[in-house]
Amino acid sequence: MLKSPSAALALGLALLIPVHAAASGDPDKGEAVFKKCAACHQVGEGAKHRIGPQLNGVIGRTAGTAEGFKYSKPMIEAGAAGLVWTAESLDGYLESPRTSIKGNRMVFPGLKDAADRADVTAYLARYAEPAKSAAPVEPKATPAAAPAQPAAGPAPLDRPVASHGVFRLGRVATAEEVAAWDIDVRADGTGLPAGRGTVAEGEVLFTERCASCHGDFGEGVGRWPVLAGGHGSLKADRPEKTIGSYWPYLSTVYDYVRRAMPFGDARSLTDDEVYAVTAYLLYLNDVVTDDGFELSRDNFAEVRLPNEANFIDDTRPQEPHYAATAEPCMRECKPEVRIVMRARVLDVTPGANSENEGAARVD
Ligand code: HEC
Ligand code: HEC
Repeated sequence: MLKSPSAALALGLALLIPVHAAASGDPDKGEAVFKKCAACHQVGEGAKHRIGPQLNGVIGRTAGTAEGFKYSKPMIEAGAAGLVWTAESLDGYLESPRTSIKGNRMVFPGLKDAADRADVTAYLARYAEPAKSAAPVEPKATPAAAPAQPAAGPAPLDRPVASHGVFRLGRVATAEEVAAWDIDVRADGTGLPAGRGTVAEGEVLFTERCASCHGDFGEGVGRWPVLAGGHGSLKADRPEKTIGSYWPYLSTVYDYVRRAMPFGDARSLTDDEVYAVTAYLLYLNDVVTDDGFELSRDNFAEVRLPNEANFIDDTRPQEPHYAATAEPCMRECKPEVRIVMRARVLDVTPGANSENEGAARVD
């Protein structure tokens, strides 16, 4: 019946009133209605195909296209002819599954009450497809489905709402996205990608991509960060903290450059280029002196930065002062403590209009 555009148009017109009802459906009531569907359909986190397809993201989906489900031929053909599940088309299908798509395999008498159909549709709209809903899934405008759209724009229910988390916002990150972010390198070299690069290669890159800010020799242009030098300055009044004078581990250099540099064009270097530029930074910091030196994943962990030994594990919990202190109290502490005044009332912080502004300043 939905195979021709004119049939869809007729259905669309016939459903103008139910559309309205669907748009105002109550998802909480719909949850109860869904019990009738649950014998065959799952929805929500981890939903799987059962007798019927899983229904996450069904709103906005072309009929007969949930991956991995074996649909009947008529259902697949209805999708191919342009049937997209919207509040309107669902309303028609759920009212009379058998007759609205002849020969489809949903053996269900249908929901006779328009309010039930609206409510269950509102309930389904809560469950966007987690992996595929980067942008709100707009129903595809297909020749057959377009005329069924109400003139006043898409019904609110055509935008699936995320089904996870406290606020039902956003979506679950895809495996690819997690992999793209998961690039940290640890001090022992764990997480380094395969690759290699020499000091000489790094010099060319550094001159092109880094020197405009960091200077040809890492000395820093203007107020951009200095990347080399500063040896022996840590005890001075103004210590010059650079990779060579201060940083404990080379892994931080690789990780930082790969993740954040060149400033404004982050992630534009290949892994080999990051090895090369890291090798050049070692050269600028006199950690290696041979411009033929090649840095790779294999020899990375052997390179030691001069200041590593001055970083120590945090031993404060064992120090006498802290060791003598009892466990910090986190709840129901000191019953005698009472809040007697609020800082704002006390006016402890001189504000812009306060008479004693700046009174505590000495400079
Ligand atoms: C007795 C089992 C059964 C019940 C109960 C049932 N369905 Fe179905 N449903 C199916 C089957 C099987 C299909 C696939 C039909 C086909 O391939 O022709 C289907 C298909 C659908 C589709 C189309 C999905 C797609 O991806 O194209 C929707 C939407 C749907 N059902 C919603 C519901 C709702 C909402 C209810 C409850 C009000 C319900 N169903 C009750 C078995 C059932
Ligand atoms: C457009 C200017 C610019 C360019 C080009 C640039 N950087 Fe940077 N770099 C910065 C700024 C700004 C910071 C400090 C960022 C911050 O602290 O948030 C920085 C920080 C660094 C640091 C950390 C310094 C420290 O002590 O904290 C390293 C290492 C570094 N850049 C390497 C590079 C390398 C290698 C390149 C070329 C591939 C490069 N940068 C290109 C502006 C630049």
